[in-house]
Amino acid sequence: MTNSNQRVVFVTGKGGVGKSTVAAALAYRAAQDGRRVILVELAEQSYLRHLLNIEVGFRPTEWRERLHVACWDGATCLREYLKHYVRIDAVVDLFFNNMVMKTFIQAAPALKEISILGKATSGIRRVGPTFEYDLVVIDAFATGHFRALLRAPKGLAEAVQFGPMGDQTRQIDQLLRDPRHTSTFIVTLPEDLPISECGDLRRDLASEFGIQARVICNKLWDIPLDPTALLRLSRHLAGRDSSGLELVNYLDVVEERQRQALQTLQAIDPKFVTLTQRFAEVGENLIASLAERVRLSDLGL
Ligand SMILES: Nc1ncnc2c1ncn2[C@@H]1O[C@H](COP(=O)(O)OP(=O)(O)O)[C@@H](O)[C@H]1O
Ligand SMILES: [Mg+2]
Repeated sequence: MTNSNQRVVFVTGKGGVGKSTVAAALAYRAAQDGRRVILVELAEQSYLRHLLNIEVGFRPTEWRERLHVACWDGATCLREYLKHYVRIDAVVDLFFNNMVMKTFIQAAPALKEISILGKATSGIRRVGPTFEYDLVVIDAFATGHFRALLRAPKGLAEAVQFGPMGDQTRQIDQLLRDPRHTSTFIVTLPEDLPISECGDLRRDLASEFGIQARVICNKLWDIPLDPTALLRLSRHLAGRDSSGLELVNYLDVVEERQRQALQTLQAIDPKFVTLTQRFAEVGENLIASLAERVRLSDLGL
């Protein structure tokens, strides 16, 4: 039996574009809207732990009402998976503490990847420890590693055709491709390189998995003057105020670059959404401020 109400959301993108911030804002907003949410960082070390000054580990910690945070690493997910699957802790410990096995686990990253995805989809599949959330928001890996993450189940399912392992990985693979259960967001900046990475990933996800990822353009400068007003202002300032003129010209360049970037994005995902560059807020306030501006229905959530 599956829990048809649970949804898994992946947030990926080029390094530094704001994946963690955007993932946190989505989770924050969903919890405010009354949903039970877990925000999961896929990392060895939690980033939010420092940002929010709370303990974040493998087990969920409450951050706000209806909002838990956890940080998963592949090895711990694999250990948990085996404990549930093999069900004898001693055997699992033996397995993990054995040098040969340690080397094997290091050498077989697909196993860790599948354990991460297995845990992420465990609530929907109703296996393993209780995982009662409406929304599982995953602050996932950057683009390259994210591809590898999604490829892992398919690879293993092809290698292991029979038995429970093959069945489970096939089920995980299907859930990842099922838009009723999984959404993927690619965060980008309004700049050439992240947009190009975003376009490549979106195309690959569509052709390889049939996944229609949605694009979120982060850190858009909200310039209060349009190009005509900027031109008028620059004429007014010319010969009077050289630093004022420089600022206006600068904003004009930013405006023009953004316009081109948004045009490119429009061709990549006509339904892309934007989040603005915030200047005054940091930390939890930044997340709250972005959460206030995000409309989950625009993102199909
Ligand atoms: N919309 C935004 N406005 C202002 N600062 C932002 C915004 N989004 C992200 N940041 C900042 O940019 C930096 C990188 O964001 P982060 O979420 O850590 O990126 P990633 O997880 O992709 O590496 C952080 O310092 C974060 O606070
Ligand atoms: Mg991050």
